[in-house]
Amino acid sequence: METTIYNLNQITKAAQALKDGELVAFPTETVYGLGADATNEDAVKKVYQAKGRPSDNPLIVHVDSVEMVEKYAREIPEKARQLMKKFWPGSLTIILNIKPGSLSKTVTGGLSTVAFRFPNSQPTLELIKEAGVPIVGPSANTSGKPSPTTAQHVYHDLNGKIKGILDDGPTRVGVESTVLDMSTDHPVILRPGAVTKADIESVIGSIDLNHHHVGKSETPKAPGMKYKHYAPNAQVYIVDEDSDWNTVMEWISKQSFTVGVMADENILHQITLPKNADSFSLGKNIVDASARLFDGLRKYDDENQVQAIVTQAYPSHGLGLAYMNRLNKSAGGQHFKDLGFK
Ligand code: TXA
Ligand code: MG
Repeated sequence: METTIYNLNQITKAAQALKDGELVAFPTETVYGLGADATNEDAVKKVYQAKGRPSDNPLIVHVDSVEMVEKYAREIPEKARQLMKKFWPGSLTIILNIKPGSLSKTVTGGLSTVAFRFPNSQPTLELIKEAGVPIVGPSANTSGKPSPTTAQHVYHDLNGKIKGILDDGPTRVGVESTVLDMSTDHPVILRPGAVTKADIESVIGSIDLNHHHVGKSETPKAPGMKYKHYAPNAQVYIVDEDSDWNTVMEWISKQSFTVGVMADENILHQITLPKNADSFSLGKNIVDASARLFDGLRKYDDENQVQAIVTQAYPSHGLGLAYMNRLNKSAGGQHFKDLGFK
């Protein structure tokens, strides 16, 4: 089955496919999602198969209204309502206790909670409305690879495995939503995203952050955080703010393979690339860099001769925390400095 690319005039067709139990990838402001009718257990099972995703990793349920959340959540705490009012539609996923029996184990990975997201994408809100059901949506990549920020990325990973892709061009934010667990009295961020800790605290007061060092032995609160992530075939090295890019260029010139250089325009103007380097611009600032990170990692993943990628670090606060969280995972925590240079 060749995967169909639906344009924005074909939302009804895409919604019909979802109603028929097929998989359709959909745009959001963060990354593309792999959609299935959340109330159709067979359809949801196909999502895990298509992605090669472990079955204990629960899916986010995408909704087009707070009323839709009410059907599936045991209750919506007041603080969660305040956050929904402030940040929905938008890049904040909220985990609540599930209304028992309302969604299958396949959706929740057997947990008693469920993650809800109201994406800021008009076509996808129309898609959910026309389908008349909430839509599960993990990122529409092969498990372990960088999340897709274009319909072409989705096609690359999932052509032949899914019915269609609703194409709305490149996504704006580029890193996945903030995941906030509100199933207990102590809200905690399980995955940083564009809605920052400070943004959330400005509405509901102090919260925790818990996304670091989730080892394989412990049971992480967000099951997805324990798996290898965002990793291209080439080794990624983080170039810290206090590293010297000229030293990086010198190192590259001594290698026998091509190295991908991912840095902002400023840095790319200042350095002289050796013959065996290829550059990818991260744009002007952290907003651009977050939007482009996965595209760059994917570009070099497809170019077999690129055996290493050096990527610029940003300060770990605000959106930079989300960017560095993804970059760290794709690099497996490796820094250019670790090669013995400054
Ligand atoms: O921006 C996004 O959130 C994108 C777009 C498509 O909406 N979706 C996305 O889904 O990134 P996914 O499945 O790739 O990542 C969801 C993360 C995983 O780490 C998963 O383990 C966690 O959220 N998660 C989902 N439900 C959970 C729950 N009930 N409790 C704890 N963690 C949960
Ligand atoms: Mg994902």
